[in-house]
Amino acid sequence: MQAYGDRERLDNLFREELNRYISTHPRSRELYETAAEPLLSGVPMIWMSKWPGPYPIYVEHAKGSHFTDVDGLMYTDFCLGDTGAMSGHAPDPTVKAVQKQIARGSTFMLPTEDAAYNGAMLSERFGLTKWQFTLSATDANRHMLRYSRHVTGRQKIAVHDYCYHGTVDETFAVMDDEGNTVPRRDNVGKPIDLKQTTVVIPFNDLEAAERAFATGEVAAMLMEPALTNIGIVLPDPDYLKGMEELCLKYDVIWILDETHTLSAGVGGMTAKYGLNPDAVVLGKTIGGGVPVGAYGLTNELALRIESSMHLESIDIGGVGGTLAGNALSMAAVRATLEQVLTPKAFEKMEALAELWVKNVQEVIDEYQLPWQVSRIGCRGEYSFRSTAPKNGREAADADDFELQQYLQLHAINRGILMTPFHNMALMSPYTDEEDVAHHHAHFREAVAALYS
Ligand SMILES: Cc1ncc(COP(=O)(O)O)c(C=O)c1O
Repeated sequence: MQAYGDRERLDNLFREELNRYISTHPRSRELYETAAEPLLSGVPMIWMSKWPGPYPIYVEHAKGSHFTDVDGLMYTDFCLGDTGAMSGHAPDPTVKAVQKQIARGSTFMLPTEDAAYNGAMLSERFGLTKWQFTLSATDANRHMLRYSRHVTGRQKIAVHDYCYHGTVDETFAVMDDEGNTVPRRDNVGKPIDLKQTTVVIPFNDLEAAERAFATGEVAAMLMEPALTNIGIVLPDPDYLKGMEELCLKYDVIWILDETHTLSAGVGGMTAKYGLNPDAVVLGKTIGGGVPVGAYGLTNELALRIESSMHLESIDIGGVGGTLAGNALSMAAVRATLEQVLTPKAFEKMEALAELWVKNVQEVIDEYQLPWQVSRIGCRGEYSFRSTAPKNGREAADADDFELQQYLQLHAINRGILMTPFHNMALMSPYTDEEDVAHHHAHFREAVAALYS
């Protein structure tokens, strides 16, 4: 879609920003050119080529809410590794714990004391009693889907239209105009027809969920309590409780993926709204920058799993990971949860996000933009439509790739990093009012260039 009408002006503004970027990032360019030979698309992971500009920024070092690139430029970071660094970069308690643990050994295929401590802390925060650890949220989701099919004996999983849960094959589906489940655009190497594995329903549509569950084919409903990967889509007031009831009625395993919605508070949206999922998935930030994922189960689901598995094949049954639950990541989680992502830190982060939203709204009002801004705890996002989207399709239809690229590059050139492929900002415990004011100034200037 084209949310902004004057494409020539947009194109000219983008070119100006591009020239500025190229002239101020010569060292990043050199490093990128060196990387073009040994790396696919010149980057360590192919999506890094989607940043606006001809090559990505190369990072020199980072601390708290800032990082410095190889050209010596400093940035206020609202991307925070797309939540991987919501704890802030290199938080002191995590760095200390990791340094101590790595010197004592990092992976043994044996537990250390920290794992149970972390499980207990997460139980207290989310209300789920049995925890497991992985290396990523993707992996935690995969494990939960396998367990769900295993205990229910059903084949399909349900997801929301335009969801994202990591690189999980069954989730790369959307709805077509007739409501059929079809592969998402450019779905790479799908193993089988997604209709056999997946049913897609719109967010905020309990009737569609009931129709899907009533077929008796659905093992699990895997969902974010608010969509965050197609812009923010908030749940209607009765949606989450309604989904909880439906899952209970049809014995569908209700998995809440709180990898991003942990921004709502220490216990995510699960605790904030008093929800009772069968399982919660976490990842990214809980390790304070060290790769780790986790999933928590109710006692009842844990019993269903444990009673249906055989010890002699437990290592080859499809739920595993040699490095999962390793001592290093467990030490990082303990320090991060206990000393960095604390209830007090979340209070501050949320207040800053409120301020960020207020500033964005002020500019929207000043220029009478047909845009809106939403928030989940310490995460804020604006989108190019006048009302908050009700589902993923509405959010996707409001996307304007070139407009977003311009705003992103404008921000980068003013020393601000926003979450790529979004207009999203995240606050860390180290973000402050000056950082938020920095964004306000850029946003106003970028909009003024478009609309004055
Ligand atoms: C909601 C959600 N779940 C899971 C994931 C996967 O996380 P990872 O890529 O760290 O495995 C993501 C990644 O963006 C996500 O947004």
